[in-house]
Order: sequence, then structure tokens, then C-alpha cells
Amino acid sequence: MKLVTCGLPYANGKAHIGHLRTYIPADVYVRYLRMLGEDVIFVCGSDCHGTPIVVNAEKEGMTPKEFVEKYHEHFKNVLKAVGVDFDFYGKTAEEYHHEMTREIVRRMIDGGYIYPAEVELAYCTRCDRFLPDRYVEGICPYCGAMARGDECDQGCGKHLEPGEIKDPRCKICGNPASFRKQKHYFFKLTAFKEFLTQYLENLKATENALNYAKEWVKNLRDWCITRDLEWGVRFPGDERFVVYVWVDAPIGYISFTKKACENRCDWEAIWKRGEAEIIHFIGLDIVYHHCIFWPAMLKAANFSLPTAIVASGMVKVEGKTFSKSRGYVVWVEEDYLKQGFNPDYLRYYILSYTSHQKDLNFSWRIFKDKVNNELLATFGNFLYRVLHFSWKNFGEVEMEVDDEVIVKIKETREKIIDALNKWEFKMVCDAFMELAAFGNSYFQSEKPWDLIKQDKNAARKVISNSLQLAKALMIFAYPVMPESMKKVAKALELDLTSCSLDDAAKIDEKMKVRKPDLPFEKIDEKVIESLERMMENRFKEAEKKVETKEEEIGLEDFKKLDIRVGRVLKAEKVQKSKKLLKLEVDVGNEVRQIVAGIAENYEPEELVGKSVVVLVNIKPTRIMGLESRGMLLAADVDGKAVLLMPERDVEAGTKIK
Ligand code: MSP
Ligand code: ZN
Repeated sequence: MKLVTCGLPYANGKAHIGHLRTYIPADVYVRYLRMLGEDVIFVCGSDCHGTPIVVNAEKEGMTPKEFVEKYHEHFKNVLKAVGVDFDFYGKTAEEYHHEMTREIVRRMIDGGYIYPAEVELAYCTRCDRFLPDRYVEGICPYCGAMARGDECDQGCGKHLEPGEIKDPRCKICGNPASFRKQKHYFFKLTAFKEFLTQYLENLKATENALNYAKEWVKNLRDWCITRDLEWGVRFPGDERFVVYVWVDAPIGYISFTKKACENRCDWEAIWKRGEAEIIHFIGLDIVYHHCIFWPAMLKAANFSLPTAIVASGMVKVEGKTFSKSRGYVVWVEEDYLKQGFNPDYLRYYILSYTSHQKDLNFSWRIFKDKVNNELLATFGNFLYRVLHFSWKNFGEVEMEVDDEVIVKIKETREKIIDALNKWEFKMVCDAFMELAAFGNSYFQSEKPWDLIKQDKNAARKVISNSLQLAKALMIFAYPVMPESMKKVAKALELDLTSCSLDDAAKIDEKMKVRKPDLPFEKIDEKVIESLERMMENRFKEAEKKVETKEEEIGLEDFKKLDIRVGRVLKAEKVQKSKKLLKLEVDVGNEVRQIVAGIAENYEPEELVGKSVVVLVNIKPTRIMGLESRGMLLAADVDGKAVLLMPERDVEAGTKIK
């Protein structure tokens, strides 16, 4: 028995192409395993806890529960639409998951692996609250990058413990946070150093994950696992707290397995008695949690350990590091599915673009080239030509297949299995594409369309070989492109859902051929151009937003500005200047000379006696030899100044806040 899981998506936003790098390869892997006769359970679900969800729910004016429900449904639907077919897709907000989490945490407590300790935590005196995880931003103590409370997401990627972040600021009000002591609970991760070192020695995992994990294990620290929050799983040792989201999220693998097993298998055999292989598919960004925290937690609770961790490289968009805020993102639903693209194209792209461990660049142009040049020109072309020719000229073919063809098919099968064992999905695709290329050149060089005119039996032999290859290709490519392969397989009345990989080399006595459907459709250059334009606009929009965001200031910055109501006592034109007026303005405690560029819009006499708004503590400057001490505030209407004035009569010197 094998259990395959995928990193749980946060129910905190829409599904993007980065997520699919975890889900699609896992789905393909499971489909192949099943075609090899393995008994596999495949589970996943939405990760519903953590501070970003609380913060974002509040922003959207929803309760966290409503908020996660919305994105849970979204993920469920999108994953289904791209053919990712879980046996169970749950969510961590459910009672059954809370129960499982509490059971496991209780076991960790009972084992003596959890202890209380005082910690200095970021605290906002203005909001009067502690600032867990994403409620605080500051500087990473390791690399100096801007970081979130629990993770250096833009710099070195390290997990940050509560209280570690430097120069913390409250994410809600922008105030610098202070530190305050609070009692929290810690997991004795350091007690697992030897265990983890050993475990990593024997773990089957992709190199990328192992390399990192083996470094990290040298430097372990105990891990604060409680948070002062309402939303989450109550910590059984002290009900005032919830457990940190990274405690309960992986436990989802267990609670979802239990659900998937109802009336079918025994979850305890898998998770307590070690009777199954446990294979986690994740992205490189969450290796720490899966190779360090998670096995230690399981060990502490006396549960079974994962047997394999398959970590993908990260997804990039149009050559740039994936970033939602910068616009380097492809949304699965609106950018892809709503364009009407066949989900199988995306599956093929993600699988075949590069080694699973490397970064994957998604670009619309490459997408088009891969579909048109590889799927259509090689793979689809062979299938369609063979099927069409067979249907037109034979309808039914008595099969007689050369050994050479069967050998080729068996070799391909071996290559696929070998690649799967290494989690090298590109090699899987390469193997069947190579077979398609072989089929193409065979068909092309044998010229059955000529042959049939002289020797129908010789043509039948060629077609028989070609049909065997076509059938093998459908079977081999089915896990990667299930819907498209099902569609073409109809021409052979082949039910792919019940095929095993061995069937590819099995020779039927006769093969009936019906009129085939085209497996793929060509992607139009115009569509790609419009998508590229859409992306360009998105990058530009995002840039604008980032710029304005960079100018965001906290209240304490605003407070530095001394802005007051001033009364204009005198006003006159500055000689030899069209634009400047020289004013004397009462700002409460003194009268200041201010030179302002408003002469084209205001006559001096209309200003005298008026109340204006003055930035008083701007550095004095000299304009055309005249000293100016202060700045009038005005709206900039296409370059024309429109002065701000209080709506009611206000005494000169009144502060503006
Ligand atoms: N909720 C956590 C995982 C908890 S597992 C117990 C999480 N969620 S996520 O929504 O951010 O990511 C879900 C999956 O998608 C993870 O496997 C993650 O590695 C993967 N990816 C998300 N963005 C990605 C890229 N840009 N590129 C590749 N994979 C990434 O992490
Ligand atoms: Zn860092």
C-alpha cells in the first residue's frame, strides 16, 4: 500500500501555476502507480489556519470560516478541472482534523517533548495586542532582508521563531512594535538531532530536499508551537492558545487519510504501524517543515514516518521569480481554464519542461511551442494519421506485430518506470515522445498510402505495427494527458481507465478502428500575443502598486510633519517672475515669509486675509534670492495649484493631524 499526499494549499487566495507543480506531478505519479497495479491512496486538503488567513479574511470583511470556505471550494474545483483526482480532499477547519491534531499534540506532551517558557514577543502598544507571525514585519536577523514574522520569504527563506525578527512593526497600524514577555509552549526539536540525522541518511527524497535538510539538522533550535490567536486548533496543554499552523497542517495528511480510508482501508496501519509507504509531494519552499519539523513531531507522537519526500523546484513566470505582488503569476482559473485551453497541455508542460527538481519557467510562448511542435506535430500527428488511415482503409485490422515494435514498446515502459522511480517526470514524457517519433518515422518511411495500392497485405502489416504503437502511446501518455488520451482512445474502443502499463505490449487479435477525433488543437499565435499583452499590463499595474506601496508611511512618519493653518497677512508678486508670489503668513507663533509658485493662479490681493495650509517644518530654502520658510499645500490640477483652505474659519497656528 502507498499513501501519496500533496502540500496542502492555503485557503488564502486563488490557485496559481506554482501550486500545480506540486499537484500535477503527484497526480501523474499516482496514476502510473495504479497502472502498475499498486494500491494507492491519494489525499490532500485545504490548509485553513494561520495568521494570513485571519488578516485577509478581515480585509475582505468575512469571518475566517467563510473566507476559507470560499477558497476551499475554489481549490477543490480548480484541481478537479485540471484532472487532479484525489481520493479525499478535506480541510483543516473541520472538527475531525482538530480532534486528530489534539490527539497527536497530547501524545507529544505526554512524551515529555513540550515545555513552557517565557518569550519576548513583538507587541503593539497601539493595537494593544501581541503580534504573531504575519501580524509583524521587520528585518530578517540572518540575511537582513525584509521578512514576515515567521518566515524570511524574500531573502534567505529561513523559518523565524517568534521574537526573532529585528525592527518589528505592527502590520495593522504600522507602529514600531515593542517586546513583551509571554509564556508559550515549545517543542523540544533539539532532542531529535540524532534521530533526524539518521532519518535523513535513509530517507528516499529528491536531492534538493536532502541537501538542505542535512545542513539544517546541524543547527536545530526548539520550536515555539503556540500562538495567541482565536482561529486555529486549541492547544490541548493550555486552551488560551492555538497551535502554530505548521503543527496542525501536516497532521492534515493523517486526518485526511483517515477520511479517505473510511470503509476501505485501515488508517492506523498506515500511520501507526508503518505498513505503507508514505510519499509527500511538496515544493522546495516547504522542505524545512517536511524534513525537519514533521518527522520529529511524528517520532514524538510515536507515529509512522514518511518514507519519501519529493520536492519540486519552484515555478517562475516569464523568466522572473514568481511573485503575486509583482504580477509574475498565472492564475489557473482566469488565465488558463477560462481561455478554454485543454488542461492536458498544462499538465504536459509542467511534467515535461525540465527536471522535477529544477526551477520551471512558464512562458506563454514556450507553452504554444510545446503544444504545437511537440504535442501536435509529433505525438498527435502520429496518432491521428495512423487512426485515420486505418479507419479509412481497413476499419478492422488483423494484427501482426513485429518483434522490433514490441521490443521498442517494452523499452519505453522500462524507461517510464525507471524515470518514475527517480521522480524524473520529464524523462517519462521524453520516453513516450521518443516512441511517438519512432512511430512517425516508421509510418513515413513505410508509406502505407503507396503500399496499399500494390499490396494490401503489406500495408496491413505496416498498419498493424502502427496501431500497436498508437495503442501503447495512449496507454503510456494517459496519466499525463488523461482527457485527451481518452478522447483518441475511443477510436480503438479502448478503455484506458482499466489499462495497465503491461497492456501496451499486448497484441490483440484484431483491432477495430472508428473515425478518430483530433487529440489536440493548435494554439493560435494571436491568442498567445493577447495573453502576452495581458501579462505585460499586469506587470505594469503591479509596478505602479508597488511604487505607491513603497511610499506608504506609518503614522509616526506623518507625525513628523508640522502642518498648520496659516493666515495670509501680505502677498505680492516677485519681480521678474511669472510664477512666484511672496507671502507673509501667520502660522500661530510667528509670521513667516513663504515664496510660493501660485502667481499664475492667484492674484495677490485675493489671498490676503485667507486661511491656508502650511507645512511649517520643511527646510528653509532660497528662491530667486528670497528666503522661503514653509510650504503652502495645494492640489495639483494639471500643473495648476489649487490651494487647500479650511472649510470653516480656523485660528492661525491650528495643527493639522
Ligand atoms: N499550506 C502550506 C503547506 C502545508 S503542507 C502541510 C503551503 N501552502 S501553499 O498554498 O503556499 O503551497 C501549496 C503547495 O504549492 C506547496 O507544495 C508549495 O510548495 C507549492 N507551491 C506554491 N507556490 C509555488 C511556486 N511558486 N512554485 C512551486 N511550488 C510552489 O505551503
Ligand atoms: Zn533571511
